[in-house]
Amino acid sequence: MRRIVVTSALPYANGDIHIGHLVEYVQTDFWVRFQKMRGNECVYVCADDTHGTPVMIRARKEGIAPEELIARAHDAHLKDFTDFQIAFDNYYTTNSPENKELSERIYKAAEAAGAITAKVSPQLYCEHCKMFLPDRYVKGICPKCGAANQYGDSCDKCGSTYGAEELSSPKCTTCGGTPVVKDSEHLYFELEPQHAYLENWIPGHTTSDVSNKLLEWFKEPLRGWCISRDAPYFGFEIPGHKGKFFYVWVDAPIGYIASLKNWCGKNGKKLEDYWPQGLAADSGNGAAAPELYHFIGKDIIRFHCLFWPGMLQTAGIKGPDKVFVHGFLTVNGEKMSKSKGTFVSARTYLDHLPPEALRYYYAAKLGGTVDDMDLNLADFVQRVNSDLVGKITNIASRGAQMLQKKLGGRLGTLDEEGRELVEQCQAAAETIAKFYEERKFNQAVVEICRLADLANGFFDRREPWKTVKTDLEATRTTLTAALNAFRLIAIYLKSILPVYADRAMRLFGEAEWTWESLGKVLENTSLGEYEYLAQRIDMKQVEAMIEAAKASNADSGEVSHESRASKNKDKGNAGKEHVQSPVASVEPLAPEVTFDDFCKLDLRVGVVKSCEVVPKSSKLLKFVLDAGTLGERTIFSGIRQSYPDPDVLVGKEVIFVANLAPRKMSVGVSEGMILFAGTPGESGGVLAPLAAAGGGARAT
Ligand code: 2FM
Ligand code: ZN
Repeated sequence: MRRIVVTSALPYANGDIHIGHLVEYVQTDFWVRFQKMRGNECVYVCADDTHGTPVMIRARKEGIAPEELIARAHDAHLKDFTDFQIAFDNYYTTNSPENKELSERIYKAAEAAGAITAKVSPQLYCEHCKMFLPDRYVKGICPKCGAANQYGDSCDKCGSTYGAEELSSPKCTTCGGTPVVKDSEHLYFELEPQHAYLENWIPGHTTSDVSNKLLEWFKEPLRGWCISRDAPYFGFEIPGHKGKFFYVWVDAPIGYIASLKNWCGKNGKKLEDYWPQGLAADSGNGAAAPELYHFIGKDIIRFHCLFWPGMLQTAGIKGPDKVFVHGFLTVNGEKMSKSKGTFVSARTYLDHLPPEALRYYYAAKLGGTVDDMDLNLADFVQRVNSDLVGKITNIASRGAQMLQKKLGGRLGTLDEEGRELVEQCQAAAETIAKFYEERKFNQAVVEICRLADLANGFFDRREPWKTVKTDLEATRTTLTAALNAFRLIAIYLKSILPVYADRAMRLFGEAEWTWESLGKVLENTSLGEYEYLAQRIDMKQVEAMIEAAKASNADSGEVSHESRASKNKDKGNAGKEHVQSPVASVEPLAPEVTFDDFCKLDLRVGVVKSCEVVPKSSKLLKFVLDAGTLGERTIFSGIRQSYPDPDVLVGKEVIFVANLAPRKMSVGVSEGMILFAGTPGESGGVLAPLAAAGGGARAT
């Protein structure tokens, strides 16, 4: 049995949890649940990230103490996470005695190692607010390009970075006053002494795309990291430095250890056995050495892969075994936007849609890479309905309800074909386990859907809705196999859909599902009551959610809370769009295209003026389309086998790609491409609209 400690990044206490955050918590939860199902000891800790200027300012504005604000945020965050079925073993706060003690200890160790230096530097100070202004609390004219209204760290217009004191006409964003420049002494954690250690550490502890980027900084000496902030600051005062506080990013990751320590205290465990605090990783108690993993977004890589291992190494504390980095969430191919209503809080989502739908969709798209992930809202509705409800849940609802109504709810035995189906489902266990372990949740979902296709194919072939009228026992045999297949599928889905799986488990009258439950086959037992498992979702719910998000964002008037996506300054990582045929099938899909690629197509409707066979071609039909304002278009399409009598197409409306480059063919020039929907080789399909298609859609 492995002992594993897992963390997700600690959310700031001054903002709501939103669907972008959930990309991380949901995937960590999938992974943790999977580890627990496999029989490993896995402790998932997290906390609110409570310190820093934004919390202090917000509390001041609300006229309350920061402690009151963070207590409120903690409750709201934990409720959001719980309602999204995210199961932390401990959800704590960075404003805790454990964190204060650990932060001081780690700082003192760095000081003792000579890693702390002090430097005086000029900073902007607001006499009215009586505080030094962090970069995001001052705006002025960019010193490089002259653009007005720029923050104190970088210019949105020209992209240059600078110190806040370099801005012309700076203004305090809190009171509008003009700040003055004052010198202040600050403490730095020096990284250069760990240059070689970190350069060696990084490649083994994260993926190559992440480490290659980080290692670019190692061509030069590593700069010291400023770890102090001046009073007033909501945080921990630095020992021996009155009026100086730890920068929030110092005690935030230490908050991982503090949360674990708090969990240990509540559960009678020793911190040393879960997160070794001395350099020797072996606690000598014979237990497996604990493994430690952080799940983070790509915007906070340098904190976790540079400063954090640097601090831990100096203090002689075990560092993470791996840092798993994910990308940002885009919605409909764009970064989340408050005005478009795509910046959706967890609560607004839950007010309109079931948590299972988002968990399922995120799982279907998460591949364990740093690529951004797109939530395409139409695809979301379609995929949840067609796969989770139409394909997977349908096996249980059709099978269990028939068994209850007609066969007394009792499973029989498997026949040969049924056993083969069940064994195929069981045989997928290690493949699916590997996908989960490697965080390729999307591939686990593809494999699970493949099994559902097998079960549905079996069900349809055996036609129990017909045999139930003639041969009850044969029907029982069919349903026994289909329901056993569904049971295995639901076990595979348990990490992604724990509440769904619990309902399914109750249907089978079982008390606990672990990975070992996959070895069992249920015969001659009675089913429990059939509870609904998953509900279809509707685009109308999504639209209502977007409207509610727009309204609540307009109300909140928050300007300081940025989305993870809006912090993304990395280039070349556009959101990916998943385009899928109307029927989710087991046919392999063509490589994924981006939403931007899809938008390049100019699709128009044309009326077929004439359609004739092309002499000497068994495949081609020559179309002349009336393309409205575009005039006439001649297009050759390879669909003759589907339409032996092309006259039937005259007068029909078709959708065609109008901006495809003209293509010279041996029979003439083709000026576009008509979209044809239907089962390949059959004339049963109709030409346009695509949505009416019953089979795979293809371009001809
Ligand atoms: O980026 C953020 O949302 C930070 N609050 C994450 C902190 S993670 C950890 F280091 F505490
Ligand atoms: Zn001010």
